[in-house]
Amino acid sequence: MRLLKNSQMRSKAKLVCVMLSQRVVFVSSAFHSHNLVLVTGVTPNSLGADFCRAIATHEPKLLILAGRTRKNIEDTAKVIMSCPTRILLIDLGSQKSVRHAAAEVNKYDEPIDILVNNAGVMATPWRLTEEGIENQFGINHVGHFLFTNLIMDKILTSKTGGRIVNVSSEGHGIGPVRFDDYNFNDGKDYEKWHAYGQSKTANVLFSAGLARRLGDKGLQTYSLHPGGKFLCLSKMSSNAQ
Ligand SMILES: NC(=O)c1ccc[n+]([C@@H]2O[C@H](COP(=O)([O-])OP(=O)(O)OC[C@H]3O[C@@H](n4cnc5c(N)ncnc54)[C@H](OP(=O)(O)O)[C@@H]3O)[C@@H](O)[C@H]2O)c1
Repeated sequence: MRLLKNSQMRSKAKLVCVMLSQRVVFVSSAFHSHNLVLVTGVTPNSLGADFCRAIATHEPKLLILAGRTRKNIEDTAKVIMSCPTRILLIDLGSQKSVRHAAAEVNKYDEPIDILVNNAGVMATPWRLTEEGIENQFGINHVGHFLFTNLIMDKILTSKTGGRIVNVSSEGHGIGPVRFDDYNFNDGKDYEKWHAYGQSKTANVLFSAGLARRLGDKGLQTYSLHPGGKFLCLSKMSSNAQ
């Protein structure tokens, strides 16, 4: 795992090492079997599904499988036998859907102990989300940012203080967040890899910002490059060429 810059994140990141692509999950003693874990992007054969299968063997109290396609989530849920699962429908490219999903989570009786913001798209052709945000930035960062903030009280009430993992990528090195032009001049200057890099840099900055703002409340936040696994994301990018 390549730990990302930010000394505050680095010290907290010692607790968990997740190498999703190699189907290896090391969980420190900080992982308690009573944890409630919510993961986005759990389609079969994805990194999120691998993570769910691995973390399920540590018997969390409940694993919430979140995504936009019910059938894909159900297919992953079917192979998880060692802990209870619950399905949450969320389309991260629609803020209406994100708000709806967050409202559902806020009605749960239990706090969320661990949130893994993993869902993502890579190098997609020029497209806007429902709210007019470049597709990759909208799904990979803004959707997760909104969802996380809307359910923050549910996370902060965790007895463990709460933990948020924003799955980034080595692709963060492609470029910074284009704060003054995140929509690439309305698509005229669109470059799909720069857009992916922007979204993955935003994942890192989000973790750093959360650590700075909420670390003293006990929240632990991480960002990571999960390694490489050439499945759906990479297919998507080659289809897009
Ligand atoms: N694979 C790699 O080598 C690699 C390398 C570095 C970083 N990463 C990061 O790892 C994460 C997972 O990648 P992956 O390779 O597992 O990708 P993947 O196989 O393509 O899976 C992506 C997941 O995200 C979901 N998703 C896409 N758009 C969504 C939306 N609008 N709302 C809700 N869910 C949505 C997909 O659901 P549907 O089935 O409904 O489309 C799917 O479950 C991403 O954040 C990626 O940037 C991957």
